Order: sequence, then structure tokens, then C-alpha cells
Amino acid sequence: MTIHIGANPGDIAETVLLPGDPYRAKWAAETFLEDVKLVNEVRGMLGFTGTWNGHRVTIQGSGMGMPSLSIYVNELIKDYDAKTLIRIGSCGGMQPQVGIRDVILASTSSTISTPSIGIFKELNFAPSADFGLLHKAFHAAEKKGITTHVGGIYSADVFYDERPDLNEQMTRHGILAVEMEAAELYNLALRYNRRALAVLTVSDHLQTGEALPSEDREKSFGDMVEIALEAAFS
Ligand code: HPA
Repeated sequence: MTIHIGANPGDIAETVLLPGDPYRAKWAAETFLEDVKLVNEVRGMLGFTGTWNGHRVTIQGSGMGMPSLSIYVNELIKDYDAKTLIRIGSCGGMQPQVGIRDVILASTSSTISTPSIGIFKELNFAPSADFGLLHKAFHAAEKKGITTHVGGIYSADVFYDERPDLNEQMTRHGILAVEMEAAELYNLALRYNRRALAVLTVSDHLQTGEALPSEDREKSFGDMVEIALEAAFS
């Protein structure tokens, strides 16, 4: 047990999928895994361990934003020895060629501020994904016929952004989409020599104002779970 995760040692698998929403963790575990066991409910941040095609997997909610994700990922790595960590979540499109429902595989993530800023100080560290996972995820998404983009994203600290000029600079520099967690996941995975990837569905678009209809959200989320599982175990 840790401060934020009530799981016993051994309850957490080496491979962990990290949706922001704990109820998404529940849905994914019940939909895609066998022999599912609830392993965490501290603060309602649900985590489940089960098997997928015989492989042990944990699906643990990370909460929203880098400070929350950082708590769970630190404890998953340091106390439970998680080795492969894949975020599955939504993002806002920032380029005209990026459409609603498309999948974004974040090769790297720019950020203005993360829980790691105290370490890097003046250094502009470029947190990057594990290429092996990214490569496999790309093929899994293509096999499903989903339009998939690989490139840089922006991990913001605020959803209700008062700095539209920053978004403009991100768009100008080819950043595909914005979300709020990947940069710190990548920082921590690189720091502790683990594999990490963010698999994201475009749920809204900053330029067009389009949004994923709520009836499509479950299907898109399910596709991300399958892409993440195939990337982890293929
Ligand atoms: N901003 C930040 N995070 C997000 C967004 C957004 O527009 N869409 C989905 N996650």
C-alpha cells in the first residue's frame, strides 16, 4: 500500500493503462479484461487488475492534469515496479489535418510547467515516448482503419486557458493536439527507465470548435484500450 494506492504488493501488473477518469478504468477493465479484481479505490481513483490474452494488466485512473498523474505514476513505478505505462485519453486538435476521432500517438510533449520543472530548471528537456511502443501502437491503429497521427503534442496545465497566444505558438510549430498529462508521464518513465506512451483520441478541435458526439466516446475509448493492449503485448 502507498499513500494513494491501496493495492497489495503484487496486485499491480507490470503493464498499466492510465485513463484520466476512474470510471473509464472500470469500464475498460470490465469490457476487455478477464478475471478482473478491484485493486484500488483510495479517493475513488479506481484501479483494476485482470488479464488480456493471458497477459496481466492493470488499468488505473490517473486523474486530470500532471500533478495528479505524477502521484500515481511515481507510486506505480517506485512502489509497484510498473514497467510499461500507457496513457489513454482525449485531446484537443490543433492542426487542420487533425480530425475528430483521429488517434494521436505523442512522440514527444511540450509543456510550460510540470511537477518536474524543479529538476530541469533552465533546461528545456524534451520528454519522449518509447519508440517500440509507439511503433506497435501505430500498426495496431492502422489495422483498425483509424486515421493516426504521430508527432508532438502540448501538455497544458489548464483546461480553461487564458493564454491563447501559447496555443497559437504550438500550432505554428506543428504541435498536433493539447491534453494535460503526457509530458509528466514521459518524464517519469525516462527518469526511471520505463516504457511509456500516450494514445489519444481527438475529442474536440480548438480551431473548428467541433466536438466528438457523446455517443461516439465509448467506441473511441474502446479503440484506444485495444491499441494500447496490442502495443504492450505484440
Ligand atoms: N485542452 C486540454 N485538454 C484537453 C482538451 C483541451 O482542449 N481536450 C481534451 N483534453
